[in-house]
Amino acid sequence: MNILLTGGAGFIGSHLVHRLLSRSEHHIVTLDALRYSGNLANLGDLDGHGRHAFVRGDICDQPLVEALIREHRIEGIINCAAETHVDRSLLDPASFVRTNVVGTGVLLEAGRRAGVRRFLQVSTDEVYGSVETGMSNEGDLLAPRSPYSASKAGGDVLALSYWATYRFPVVVTRGTNTYGPNQYPEKFIPLFVTNAIDDQLLPLYGDGRQCRDWLAVEDHCAGIEQVLLHGEAGTVYNVGGGNERENLTVAEQILACLGKSKDLLRFVTDRPGHDRRCAVDCSRLRGLGWSPQIPFEEGLRATLRWYQEHESWWRRIKSGEFRQYYEEQYRRRLEEGTACGS
Ligand code: TYD
Repeated sequence: MNILLTGGAGFIGSHLVHRLLSRSEHHIVTLDALRYSGNLANLGDLDGHGRHAFVRGDICDQPLVEALIREHRIEGIINCAAETHVDRSLLDPASFVRTNVVGTGVLLEAGRRAGVRRFLQVSTDEVYGSVETGMSNEGDLLAPRSPYSASKAGGDVLALSYWATYRFPVVVTRGTNTYGPNQYPEKFIPLFVTNAIDDQLLPLYGDGRQCRDWLAVEDHCAGIEQVLLHGEAGTVYNVGGGNERENLTVAEQILACLGKSKDLLRFVTDRPGHDRRCAVDCSRLRGLGWSPQIPFEEGLRATLRWYQEHESWWRRIKSGEFRQYYEEQYRRRLEEGTACGS
């Protein structure tokens, strides 16, 4: 297939580009705006690859999207491009609506008009909102609780409407919290790992007892590939790791693996509207022959090793734009935070 893969210089997108190129004969055009979290270093090893082309651009740029689909005879679109960080969505919701809703709309409409035969929307389990008990199924009511998850829900249901209305062959994946190499260090695991390496404090929101289901990026990409190739049009597939853990537990595991003290933990003012728990039922995707392969403790150790061995990758990020964001987001909270056990 000739595939247009958006957001391919980001975390999940870049892993997906590598996976698809290495496992099949797909030709891939990566479209990425290279905003703060897009990073060409994530694709550096693909320079000169005969089946890959990189284009810098915005998914909201309709003429550009239309030209790429035409010129590269695109047959499938995978939309990984998104504003993804909940905390940033509290500071600037409009950019989330623009990219996650309007941008998805541009891709859908351009794809439909050009007769593209597959459209995969990478969504998130956070569209279900906070799930106190049980597991979210694909048919559950969506109840997003942050501008981030609400904007992802917008893109997700807009995509599904293109199947209902136009029979445009859309599939949607709703993945859980993904972790692994190359993840921008604003997210929980890479933030805590890189802070701990530097003996900096680890800011746990609220009581640290919120639960997430952790999914290794390789397993997430395998799920996306399975849905791309074998998913039924108009259908949503949950993708989860089956590794439900409390944030405090994960923070303690990171510290233990790195041989650092729990004194680095700080309980800080909670995130407003913080989802207490997320968990999904993946039976539908398992029915397509997929299952997660990487146990959390093993994946976490490999991820820690990657950050230890790739300091220049994350130090460059942490010394740039990130610094000001971190200062605004955490300085006061950390000063007022409480230590573990106090
Ligand atoms: P995050 O990586 O932001 O993903 P999401 O909010 O999409 O689940 O956060 C994962 C969990 O970690 C979430 O419960 C919020 C919590 N968290 C902290 O306690 N401290 C932090 O500094 C961050 C970034 C997250």
